[in-house]
Amino acid sequence: MARLGRGKVAPNPIVGAVIVHQGKIIGEGFHKKVGGAHAEIEAIAKVGDRSVLPKSTMYVSLEPCFHYGRTPPCVDSLLKYGFKEVVLCQIDPDERVKGKSIQKLEEQGVSVLPGFLEEEGGQRNAFFICRTQKKRPYIILKYAKTTTGIFGYEGEQFWISNAFSKRLVHRWRSEVGAILVGTNTALMDNPQLNNRWYYGSSPLRILLDKNLKVQPPTNLLSDDLPTLIVTEHPPTTKPSTSLEYLPSAFDNTLIPNILEELYDRNIDSLIVEGGATTLQHFLNLDLWDEARVFTSNQPTSFKESNAILAPIIRTPPAKIFPIREDTLEIYYAN
Ligand SMILES: NC(=O)c1ccc[n+]([C@@H]2O[C@H](COP(=O)([O-])OP(=O)(O)OC[C@H]3O[C@@H](n4cnc5c(N)ncnc54)[C@H](OP(=O)(O)O)[C@@H]3O)[C@@H](O)[C@H]2O)c1
Repeated sequence: MARLGRGKVAPNPIVGAVIVHQGKIIGEGFHKKVGGAHAEIEAIAKVGDRSVLPKSTMYVSLEPCFHYGRTPPCVDSLLKYGFKEVVLCQIDPDERVKGKSIQKLEEQGVSVLPGFLEEEGGQRNAFFICRTQKKRPYIILKYAKTTTGIFGYEGEQFWISNAFSKRLVHRWRSEVGAILVGTNTALMDNPQLNNRWYYGSSPLRILLDKNLKVQPPTNLLSDDLPTLIVTEHPPTTKPSTSLEYLPSAFDNTLIPNILEELYDRNIDSLIVEGGATTLQHFLNLDLWDEARVFTSNQPTSFKESNAILAPIIRTPPAKIFPIREDTLEIYYAN
């Protein structure tokens, strides 16, 4: 249920709730939009006969909120409806909550079981936790390589992953707030970087372009979708309303500057889609949280002269999935 809210509620956490009475689900809900009802309230609204709630269990992926935000505290609603049992995955790391709701429920005689499926709940909310604790968006490095470690060829367009992997990438695009590529990738591949093959929205596109080498009719500059261009030389007049410029030096402050800008814009997640140089900069600064790496098992010719080698991640993958003839490996930083 929580996952249904992914990509829709930043900078809020994604939260799902399920109400169970006598072994049956009688209500379920998720946080659908910023300012909208929280998951617990959505779930309660689905229950026809609310008189059974005192004999029901509320399962919720994150500790109910304690504070007045755009909506009143959920902990008070749980008490109002008489829940006697609450099961939750995670304590909310937000200082305004952080265990206070659990304490309040317990003081009112409610049995609370925190830490249920904690790891799964934590991974669901990695964007929110990263933003709250590290004050920057969650960073996902995404790329494809061949089994021989080839990432691309200089001066050539080279597609590596299969159609199923590409569709999955579009789903990921629907789940994140921003997507970033380096100058050469924009010049070579002319990517659109939008979500065309999955439901939901597209992320804010970010192009690194120190000297404004990328020019129309490149898709990122010409298709009327928003693009943030990070450059040392912003133009004095904006050529189009869909283009924004973020001035920055192209040194070790570049990536931290971008992360700060995204944080200020309430963007909780960033996917970096290449190229190799750009990905390596994030790795070198240890500014990444997760890497999603496709390896294509399709036979490819190995041309050494202009080959670009894929970055190497020096931790073992945490998960491996087959996607037809591709393999997807997921790595987590530390
Ligand atoms: N296999 C895959 O998943 C995949 C994904 C994307 C792209 N590709 C391929 O990769 C190739 C492009 O990769 P690439 O490594 O050559 O280029 P790239 O990473 O796309 O762009 C590199 C350029 O971006 C600028 N840049 C990026 N990060 C920077 C930083 N932190 N500080 C300073 N400058 C920074 C620099 O531009 P300046 O030199 O102008 O300053 C740098 O030369 C293309 O052939 C493309 O087809 C493959």
